[in-house]
Amino acid sequence: PQADALVFFGATGDLAYKKIFPALQAMARRGRLSVPVVGVAKAGWNLEQFRARAKASVEAHGGLDPAAFEELCKRLRYVDGDYGEFGTFEALRRELGDAHRPVHYLAIPPSLFGPVVEQLGKSGCARGARVIVEKPFGRDLPSALALNQTLLNSFDEKNIYRIDHYLGKEPVQNLVYFRFANSFLEPVWNRNHVHSVQITMAEDFGVQGRGAFYEQAGAIRDVVQNHLLQLLANVAMEPPVSATGEAVRDEKVKVLRAVPALKPGDVVRGQFRGYRSEKGVAPDSRVETFAAVKLAVNNWRWQGVPFYIRAGKCLPVTATEVLVRFRRPPALYTVSIAPPNQIRFRISPNVAIALGTMVKAPGETLAGRPAELLAVHNPDSGEMDAYERLLGDAMKGNKTEFAREDYVEEAWRIVEPVLGNATPVEEYEPHTWGPDTTGMIAGDGPWHDPAARSE
Ligand code: BG6
Repeated sequence: PQADALVFFGATGDLAYKKIFPALQAMARRGRLSVPVVGVAKAGWNLEQFRARAKASVEAHGGLDPAAFEELCKRLRYVDGDYGEFGTFEALRRELGDAHRPVHYLAIPPSLFGPVVEQLGKSGCARGARVIVEKPFGRDLPSALALNQTLLNSFDEKNIYRIDHYLGKEPVQNLVYFRFANSFLEPVWNRNHVHSVQITMAEDFGVQGRGAFYEQAGAIRDVVQNHLLQLLANVAMEPPVSATGEAVRDEKVKVLRAVPALKPGDVVRGQFRGYRSEKGVAPDSRVETFAAVKLAVNNWRWQGVPFYIRAGKCLPVTATEVLVRFRRPPALYTVSIAPPNQIRFRISPNVAIALGTMVKAPGETLAGRPAELLAVHNPDSGEMDAYERLLGDAMKGNKTEFAREDYVEEAWRIVEPVLGNATPVEEYEPHTWGPDTTGMIAGDGPWHDPAARSE
């Protein structure tokens, strides 16, 4: 059933400012915001100050839409108070009025989940409610289990929504759609035809003032364990029996179960020169700002096909791309060995799906040249952003694009052996492709270069 109120904790924080207010305004613009929206924080603010913050947020992120913003403003409520105090939650209970199916969004650091969830339970605010939590879901398997237990003390698993914003992205959803809506793909989508898969998430900027956070994370915890394993699961999972409900989540867990835990030899970690002088970063930090890993998917469809994931800060471009490389044709007809075909899913910053083919180059010989058959999608300003989509889904009670606990645990199991300083970290020059990874990719290379493209 549709939720009848939205509460967000951390209402004066960064996530609310960057993502939640703009998503709420977009929902209002589409006529899909019909419930009270209660912000909770400890800032000593009143409702007017809270509204001013909402306005500044939408102005800074996507622009003010006066009519939609007014609609949002009408619905905004604000509760100021300490998360450890019962009085804050009594006040919240009063603001909720007769709402009995609220959604509580914990846009706060995980260290605060415990006290908030406990008070939600005690005050009766958790009754009939859903809870949304943000990644990171713990920092390793034991802490993820503990975090989950904390949530389960006040909420059933069916009411827990774990956001991985990558799942709300249009091109990530298109990746899955493309797989299952095109019949030509299924016969070749397996170990008999696919040579290797590469997933690259490159960012040409550093940690952007988030040094203290990043010191606790590093690239493997920050994006590999969640966003990039999700991309792998989308590429590799079996067709689900339906597009909704638990079917998709079942297939994702199944595919991760087939992935053996990483060994130190499967990982290259790097740190860009200059990271150690960022604010909040230890002068002798060994946290990785770059990671490349080689994974296997040991099931009937994929055994023997290597999956490479590479992610980093301060790389030459900002681009996220999935590349599925096929086996080469026999070298009989062409004068030179043709490069392999490939399918390229460009996830961001622009969006495209491209089939990499070879065509004959005009001339006497049977020499060819690469040509891409390209489907481009130009996002327009009215398009749903990941947070709008996922918030809307949580309000509707649609859990398909949220991570289930067993999935989160499998993801931690896979990366656990290479967390922390299990492997060396090598310094790399900013705006290069990190430390040397040619040994790791060896005969499956080269790495695909997701150069900045406008398509
Ligand atoms: C976040 C990470 O989850 O995802 C950041 O914490 C990263 O380090 C960001 O920059 C990337 O998300 P997007 O949507 O900008 O590609």
